[in-house]
Amino acid sequence: MSLDVVILAAGQGTRMRSSLPKVLHTLAGKPMVRHVVDTASGLGAQRTHVVIGHGGERVREALADTGVGFAHQAEQKGTGHAVAQALGQLGDGKVLVLYGDVPLIRRDTLTSLLTQVNDHSMGLLTVTLEDPSGYGRIVRDEQDNVVAIVEQKDANDEQLAIRECNTGIMAMTSAQLKRWLPELSSDNAQGEYYLTDVIAMAAAEGVRVATAQPSRPIEVEGVNNRSQMARLERAHQHSIAESLMASGVALADPARLDVRGHLSCGHDVFIDVGCVFEGEVELGEGVRIGPYTVIRNSHIGAESVIEAHSIIDGAVLAGLNQVGPFARLRPGSRLAVKAKVGNFVETKNAEVGEGSKINHLSYVGDARLGREVNIGAGTITCNYDGANKHRTEIGDAAFIGSNSALVAPVSVGEGATVGAGSTISRDVADHSLAVTRARQIAKANWPRPSKDDE
Ligand code: UD1
Ligand code: CA
Repeated sequence: MSLDVVILAAGQGTRMRSSLPKVLHTLAGKPMVRHVVDTASGLGAQRTHVVIGHGGERVREALADTGVGFAHQAEQKGTGHAVAQALGQLGDGKVLVLYGDVPLIRRDTLTSLLTQVNDHSMGLLTVTLEDPSGYGRIVRDEQDNVVAIVEQKDANDEQLAIRECNTGIMAMTSAQLKRWLPELSSDNAQGEYYLTDVIAMAAAEGVRVATAQPSRPIEVEGVNNRSQMARLERAHQHSIAESLMASGVALADPARLDVRGHLSCGHDVFIDVGCVFEGEVELGEGVRIGPYTVIRNSHIGAESVIEAHSIIDGAVLAGLNQVGPFARLRPGSRLAVKAKVGNFVETKNAEVGEGSKINHLSYVGDARLGREVNIGAGTITCNYDGANKHRTEIGDAAFIGSNSALVAPVSVGEGATVGAGSTISRDVADHSLAVTRARQIAKANWPRPSKDDE
């Protein structure tokens, strides 16, 4: 049977107190609804339909590249009404209902729910909670068959005592849904069309309501406010930390790690506290990451050491590199094996050859450095003339004295030396010395000015 997924995302999310639609608030750097879309995409659905309402245009834009379809719910008249907006777009296989504000649902859980669905049976995901308040309660008969869901606001005292709760997530055939949805009424405490009322219809028709449970309750927790949002973020980060540790990564503190994207690590990687990884990040074997480091879309080769408070963005490090503390590698930075970038150094669009060193307080942009180059403290590549960017080329084993300005376009030859404090605006030949600073003069026994006598 084919599968359609319907994701409800029309609610306003008033309690977030935000101008951003609730489902666009990010978890691990990604909008909540995208987590749900991504999880659904692994189920082999023929199509995913997102029901939008409040802030609908922004949700549509945020999902534009995912290929999902949209159904518009102009007025929020309940979860049953919401699903009904997508009814015309559904195929004739199975239908799975998910929620844009329940981001941590796992694919395995949904797969086991979907196996319950056939012409004589539907699937309902339930969870047993210590404190069931606010949730719809699962009503079973003496044979333990599910016969109805009663919303908190419509429940009597006996039903309120039930701890098995409706997660809202359910699956059925499209034919069942098409029979049941038009029959819903809004004759209840909230005056809404409850999707949950289809359960009693199934029971009345003799369609079995098979239940499945998530492996952990956090999977089915919804977000209504920022406090729940933060709780889900921590829970999600905790499980990322657990799986990194299971794969052999040493974390100084699993509670102080944030991965907003995908982090892959070789064996014996060590990550100190407070690090943030964004986008696609790869750490080779034995890499050590110092505290409070941010790494985005980068590859760090084996046995490299990144010291505290460094920021590495769009960089490729070949391996055995030493970076930081307080280094900033911007996009296009490429370090060959054993290259070193020290404190308060910024690089951008720069190739640094094998064994070359930029140890302190420099800016190297739009440049290529050969092997074993030594860049003295305070060296600046002046790559921008106010209109265009220009390149600096530095040959193997060149030595740039401290506090030099290299005015691009310019090249410094192999084995050449630039004297400290020089401003280099013309090419320097191989193995030559270039110095541009003024000559030092000396005046012996020179009397320092003193304040005039009164
Ligand atoms: C719903 C269930 C309840 C379950 C709980 C789990 C119903 C009637 N009740 O209650 O049994 O225990 O979820 O969290 O289904 N939405 C729309 N359009 C609407 C109404 C809702 O898109 O017209 C979306 C909301 O944005 C939200 C989700 O559906 O993401 C759930 O709606 P909400 O009103 O929060 O349902 P609950 O009252 O919590
Ligand atoms: Ca409601």
